This record gives sequence, C-alpha cells and structure tokens, in this order.
Amino acid sequence: MGYRLVLDKVSYKYPGQTQYAISDITIEFIPGIIYGVIGSNGAGKTTLLKITGLLYKPLKGKILLNGKDPWRNNIEHYRRRTVYVHEKPVMLRTTVYNNLLYPLKLREIPRGEAHKRIQSIAHTLGLSHILEEKAHKLSTGQKQLVGIARALLVDPDIIALDEPFSNLDFTKKKLVTSLLRKLSSKGKTIIVSSHDTLTIEKTSDQLIVLEKGKIICKGPTKETIKFLYEGNSSCSDN
Ligand SMILES: Nc1ncnc2c1ncn2[C@@H]1O[C@H](COP(=O)(O)OP(=O)(O)OP(=O)(O)O)[C@@H](O)[C@H]1O
Ligand SMILES: [Mg+2]
Repeated sequence: MGYRLVLDKVSYKYPGQTQYAISDITIEFIPGIIYGVIGSNGAGKTTLLKITGLLYKPLKGKILLNGKDPWRNNIEHYRRRTVYVHEKPVMLRTTVYNNLLYPLKLREIPRGEAHKRIQSIAHTLGLSHILEEKAHKLSTGQKQLVGIARALLVDPDIIALDEPFSNLDFTKKKLVTSLLRKLSSKGKTIIVSSHDTLTIEKTSDQLIVLEKGKIICKGPTKETIKFLYEGNSSCSDN
C-alpha cells in the first residue's frame, strides 16, 4: 500500500529567520505519480522536500500520511518509510559496498538479503564496478549515484530527491529516471526537485513551480513547462 501525502497550509521558517522559507503550501502527493519541483535559487524547493522527508516539522499547518499526522503519532515509524536524498550525500570513509550496506544493517536486514539488494541496485545504476572503491574518493556524480542507491535500498514508500540529476551524465540521468518510473509504477510516492527542465520534463508527471516559498503554478508537467516558457497559456491548476 502506498502513502498519500498531504501538506495542508504548511509553512516553515528556519530558526532565527524572520521570513518564511515556504508558506501556506497545500498539495497532495499521490502514489504512482512522479512530482517535479522547480523554482529559482532560494524558492524553497529543498525546504519543501525536507518537510515531505520528515526532516523538518511544519511551523504552521500540517502534514498527513494516509490521513495521519506523523508528528502527532509515531514519527520514527513514518521516518522508516520515508527518505530525503541530499544533492551532495555524505559518504562514510569506507567502500561503496559498506556505504550501501550501512542502512540495511541499521534496519537489521539479513546479510544474504542485503547482499542481493546491493548487487541488484548496483547493477541497475551502473555501480557494480566501483563497489570495492573508497566512497569518499569517488567523483561528485558517482557519490550522488551512491547516495541515491543507498536511499532506495531500504525500499521506502515516500522518496524525496533533491536535485538528483545535478552531477549526472546523460546516461546516468536516464538510468535514474527509468528506475524512478519503475518505483512509481509500484506505488511509491516520488518528489524530485531540479533545475534541469529537460530532465524533469522526462521524469515527472506533475510539476510544482515554487517562487519565494509559494506555489505559483502546478499541473501536468508538459503543460506547466509550456506555460512557463510561453507564458500565454494559463497555468492549469494553481
Ligand atoms: N539553514 C538555513 N538557515 C536559514 N535560512 C535558510 C536555511 N536554508 C535555507 N534557508 C532559506 O530558506 C529559503 C529557501 O531555501 P531553499 O534551500 O529551500 O531553496 P531552494 O529552492 O532549494 O534553492 P536552491 O535552488 O538554491 O537549492 C531561502 O530564502 C534560504 O535563504
Ligand atoms: Mg535546494
């Protein structure tokens, strides 16, 4: 069963700041649909994704997972079902394999099953040949791929990826996109932020456009991008 994720008038302000980073965000994320989030630097994309990833608690409004507020229930239970993938993931100073094993160990996944999952995702994302390399010595793009693999290995239901394509070459972008499509078809709830309009057009079904912490436009990706480029057709749903 997937998770319907609802943000109901959510606002968030960083400690010590006067301005809200995002304000009054109301949106529903439905399993099986990939949501893209775009907007200029500082628009609030990362903040929104960290709210959906349960890293930040809304200061106003609420977040609901299948109708329940995780912040009022068992937050750790919901956090085990949710991942936020950082654009520049921090690598443990050990092999790629051990980096991938780490979250599975934490969840007490048996070694044999863990090994199978690691081999499978490494194959899917083209990481098999670097499993024994030291992760902290990899290139930026390779680290980004390992970060994505490490997050997906635990089979989360809600997947928030912050700029996952920013350091990837064209082939790897296609690999990640097709993996996200596969996960989406299995009923995962997927939210992807990006500055890469071309890739987000290929990856997402619905697009959310943020500006100054507010949603200025949302709707089917193709139409929404058309609206942004041409500005003469109406934003379908804002
Ligand atoms: N740790 C922080 N402390 C204080 N303010 C922050 C912090 N992180 C972000 N902000 C502020 O919150 C607002 C939204 O930032 P956010 O990082 O969500 O934007 P973004 O859309 O992800 O930008 P980018 O495209 O540069 O990644 C900005 O005004 C930013 O200055
Ligand atoms: Mg950001």
